[in-house]
Amino acid sequence: MANYTNLLRMTDLSPETLEKILKVSAALKKEPENTLLKGETLALIFEKPSLRTRVSFQLAAEEMGGRALVLRPDEIKMGVREAVKDIARYLSRNVTIAAMRVFSHNTLVEFSKYASIPVVNALCDEEHPCQAFADLLTIEECFGRIKGVNITYLGDGNNVCCSLMFGAAMTGANMTVGCPKGFEPPEDVVKKVLEYARESGSEIKIINDPKAAAKGADVLYTDVWVSMGQEDEKTSKMKAFEGFCLDDECLKLAAADAIVLHCLPAHRGEEITDSVIESPNSRVFQEAENRRHVEKAALLYALGKLDQVKI
Ligand code: CP
Ligand code: NVA
Repeated sequence: MANYTNLLRMTDLSPETLEKILKVSAALKKEPENTLLKGETLALIFEKPSLRTRVSFQLAAEEMGGRALVLRPDEIKMGVREAVKDIARYLSRNVTIAAMRVFSHNTLVEFSKYASIPVVNALCDEEHPCQAFADLLTIEECFGRIKGVNITYLGDGNNVCCSLMFGAAMTGANMTVGCPKGFEPPEDVVKKVLEYARESGSEIKIINDPKAAAKGADVLYTDVWVSMGQEDEKTSKMKAFEGFCLDDECLKLAAADAIVLHCLPAHRGEEITDSVIESPNSRVFQEAENRRHVEKAALLYALGKLDQVKI
């Protein structure tokens, strides 16, 4: 297959391509059905649980006239029952694109090395690019722009945080990460994010004071404190993140029209209070729905078909 591109990291995209992905997503949200994926089969490979990613990718493929096969962890036991490189070569002869949720980013790299089909990252330990697309689309819908919007992320400097930081820096949004000491995003990520920020004019800050981070925010964002695969660290993480809950006090400190985002699943009473997630400021289900619309653009991008959508 010619003319395909892997989407493993946000940095696989130029800021211009990210902008196009968001525009295509918005266009496809207005007109959800097409035949752009006729003849394409998506393998959805999961090493971890999922609700939104599974539903959104499957529906995205089907609404564009393609097919989707869901491969659960217990079915293929990637790397245990069979080597990743064998799965990659077998699937390449049967499907035309793969979206993968894996523990280690290296699994995506290994798979894509041996595959002859495009691979889309559906969450790994380092990034969650499709989530960042949905977040940015939601911000654009709520504020009519992304550039200059002040995003505050409270919590772990993890996969979701890293992809959103790249997304903010590429689109000119400002982002403050409020995280406990020792849970900052990795240094190499911050270094690259700052390079994009210099180009776009966005301001990126990482601080350890949650309330200072929340002050004046247009977007308050959080994610679980214990990510999938970190269950053994639950006790120590709960202690480390004390005081970082997105609560009513954070909402009061934010801008009057601030919106609340969360990638979901949410652990109410841990990283976010029930009252905040249920508040009129919350846009979490709009954000979650947007996963389906951005997944379409992600698949089209990887298959070299993004230009086939009129924007
Ligand atoms: N936000 C997200 O990726 O949700 P799932 O884990 O349910 O797919
Ligand atoms: N950081 C979370 C995101 C879930 C969508 C995790 O990796 O489990």
